[in-house]
Amino acid sequence: MRTEQPKVIHLKDYQAPDYLIDETHLTFELYEDRTLVHARLAMQRNDAAASSALPPLLLHGQELELLSLSLDGRPLGLGDYQIDENSLSLQPDAASFVLESTVCIHPETNTALEGLYKSGKMFCTQCEAEGFRKITYYLDRPDVMSSFTTTVKADQQRYPILLSNGNPVASGSEDDGRHWATWEDPFKKPAYLFALVAGDLWCVEDSFTTMSGREVALRIYVEPENIDKCQHAMDSLKRSMRWDEQVYGREYDLDIFMIVAVNDFNMGAMENKGLNIFNSSAVLARAETATDAAHQRVEAIVAHEYFHNWSGNRVTCRDWFQLSLKEGFTVFRDAGFSSDMNSATVKRIEDVAYLRTHQFAEDAGPMAHPVRPDSFIEISNFYTLTVYEKGAEVVRMIQTLLGEEGFRKGSDLYFERHDGQAVTCDDFVKAMEDATGADLQQFKRWYSQAGTPRLAVSEAYDPSTQRYSLTFRQSCPPTPGQAEKLPFVIPVKLGLLDSQGREIPLRLVGEGAAVGTDRVISVTDAEQCFTFVDTPEQPLPSLLRGFSAPVKLDFPYSRDQLMYLMQHDSDGFNRWEAGQQLSVQVLRELIDQQQRGEAMSVDQRLISALGSVLDNDRLDQAMVAEMLSLPGEAYLIEISEVADVDAIHAAREHARRCIAEALFEPLWRRYQANRELSRQTPYVAQSEHFARRALQNIALSYLMLSERREVLAACQEQFETADNMTERLTAMAVMVNSPFEAERSAALATFAEAFKDDPLVMDQWFSVQAGSAMPGGLERVHHLMRHAAFTIKNPNKVRAVIGAFANQNHVNFHALDGSGYRFLADQIIMLNALNPQIASRLLTPLTRWRKYDDARQALMRGELERVLASGELSSDVFEVVSKSLA
Ligand code: TRP
Ligand code: ZN
Repeated sequence: MRTEQPKVIHLKDYQAPDYLIDETHLTFELYEDRTLVHARLAMQRNDAAASSALPPLLLHGQELELLSLSLDGRPLGLGDYQIDENSLSLQPDAASFVLESTVCIHPETNTALEGLYKSGKMFCTQCEAEGFRKITYYLDRPDVMSSFTTTVKADQQRYPILLSNGNPVASGSEDDGRHWATWEDPFKKPAYLFALVAGDLWCVEDSFTTMSGREVALRIYVEPENIDKCQHAMDSLKRSMRWDEQVYGREYDLDIFMIVAVNDFNMGAMENKGLNIFNSSAVLARAETATDAAHQRVEAIVAHEYFHNWSGNRVTCRDWFQLSLKEGFTVFRDAGFSSDMNSATVKRIEDVAYLRTHQFAEDAGPMAHPVRPDSFIEISNFYTLTVYEKGAEVVRMIQTLLGEEGFRKGSDLYFERHDGQAVTCDDFVKAMEDATGADLQQFKRWYSQAGTPRLAVSEAYDPSTQRYSLTFRQSCPPTPGQAEKLPFVIPVKLGLLDSQGREIPLRLVGEGAAVGTDRVISVTDAEQCFTFVDTPEQPLPSLLRGFSAPVKLDFPYSRDQLMYLMQHDSDGFNRWEAGQQLSVQVLRELIDQQQRGEAMSVDQRLISALGSVLDNDRLDQAMVAEMLSLPGEAYLIEISEVADVDAIHAAREHARRCIAEALFEPLWRRYQANRELSRQTPYVAQSEHFARRALQNIALSYLMLSERREVLAACQEQFETADNMTERLTAMAVMVNSPFEAERSAALATFAEAFKDDPLVMDQWFSVQAGSAMPGGLERVHHLMRHAAFTIKNPNKVRAVIGAFANQNHVNFHALDGSGYRFLADQIIMLNALNPQIASRLLTPLTRWRKYDDARQALMRGELERVLASGELSSDVFEVVSKSLA
């Protein structure tokens, strides 16, 4: 906990380290009431940073009790070093030396889940970003890379499995019932990639033969009761390893690769070298307990962490401002993998919907920051949608500009040139430039300028010259600390449709011949016009295909034009996008009607467009499901000037009811056909099966709005007899949000009884209820928090109950009496002391206060002020609260 005003760290102040650590030798003695950590560090002065005199050595360290310290074997006394809350400093007398220390730490009472801590009965670590300093005194910065040898000693009975990074080299038992194991990691790494696990774990084993013929042992360690839920993660791991060889030419480097599942984890997973530690929710999956979405999430996170072995570990970050160097690139890589494993268009739709809803909101709020931030107070607060998702979009734009082949040349050069180094985003871009001859200097503004650019497009057609012009005007709103922005390089992938639904060949003024019917143009100026010649009729433009840049596109499409694009656009993403824009137009009209107190009336064109989608049996069923999904409430809030959550909810629900009424027959037909197939086919976690169930389930959610008894019966049948969680959970969720009170309670009770011992399934049960817009949301949440399966100390539970309520249950959370805000602030104040990272993340909905009406703004600000005044704040919570109120 912080006692002074927290310091702001700036990128411009970066300095190379004064000392390096060549070798790190650690010994952990794990006990129930304390842990002793011995560290022997072989250090030398960093010549790159040399001046004449030997500089003082400043090691990071927090919450450590120093028991002994020696320099080159000579014990140091009180006068030889200084210690404060965050560091230990001393004056070395030689350019290279061995520093040995012993500290005592307390993993058994560590509720922050950072450093060494206990999750249930096992010991585990989480060191990224700056958690290693809670384990021992060290140069806890990513540009200090060292080889690690780690010995773990613990009670043999309680902790039969002892793991760390690298390869196992020795082990043994001692007389007192304790045993030990030594691990050696030959690859130099920064301390944030260190990991240790000790526990009573079982493992699933497999092996993988790399492209050069080396055999790698693969192990997934879990608590015994979860041993039957590892196969999907293991299959995903093998697919990831093969894909990285085939698509990026990257081979795995150690003899063993391990994943450990832990129940208490602040994020999804962590890429520690050779020993990935995962939130159990990102590993465990089987048909009976995990939904299709959970299966896909496991596949994506296993891939993401595995891919970090190259993009993050072999080539790491110079400093934490470069975080997107590894995270943006790795998210881009895992998205490529997921698109290859499943439907690429559906994956793109999901990613774009997520980015536009959540990252655009972040970019418009008080925590807005560039993909490469200029400053931070607490780095944990910068594991953001901007660094991850927008960072991935930036890498995607580089690929769009260079082409797939050029991009691969660039990534090969990057990995080859920087293997074993800690580098910057500039180094990444430089490799892309050097490999292809491209000039990306202006493009780099995507790394340094925050905010979502707006791209307004207008058209002009001259039939006499057959010329068609598109004029692009880009602008970017101010963000904290950045009033003015310079123009971005915006790659716009586009096509032109004629009145027969055909694509017109694209020839720009000055070009000798047309270059295909689908191409990328680069908008680089604040205002720029592109003129196409040989355009026989006024075309309809299909712009920003595949969402080729993370911008807010503005083109004055009529509803009829959007319907035309829905039908004829050759770009699958843009067919979906046209439907979304049509829905947005219709929903905005309903919101206006609702606010004026008029009766709401849905434009029939939306219904008939969705009707034709439903009637088209040739369309990919996952696409049909996506097209049927109206834009979410959170997205409608994001695109509102002043968000009226009640009107948004009422409008969207009204539209859904009208669609359900008008399209009851086709929805029922497709529901029954797919449910019948589900009944006949055992569960398979595979793309076409995901697609079939997705359509079946969205159809069911519409059908239930009709409140017809035969639908309720179908829903109950699905709930009771499904062989998988996807169908069972949807049926339950649909009942939870229906007026059938008795059936709802019965389903909830049956479900809880069946799954009370499976925490991940109970998380689903919690979040369906906490996220339900039915009246009485806050009381329901209080009730859930008293349930035996709830605990505030487990981040997954906090997310399932408090997170679902504050982020998904807009009408209840934004209740006009301020009760939702007050509740959330109370939880944040409590969590600030227990787990600052989780407390800080829970603040997000309150940071969006500028989006709402004056009354709600005042209430939300009031709660932020109450948090600020609540006592000693962690740097995590302090940074977000103070920036939100600034
Ligand atoms: N590097 C992890 C990833 O793959 C992120 C992460 C895991 C993390 N646990 C964390 C970041 C705890 C901060 C704190 O995305
Ligand atoms: Zn990552």
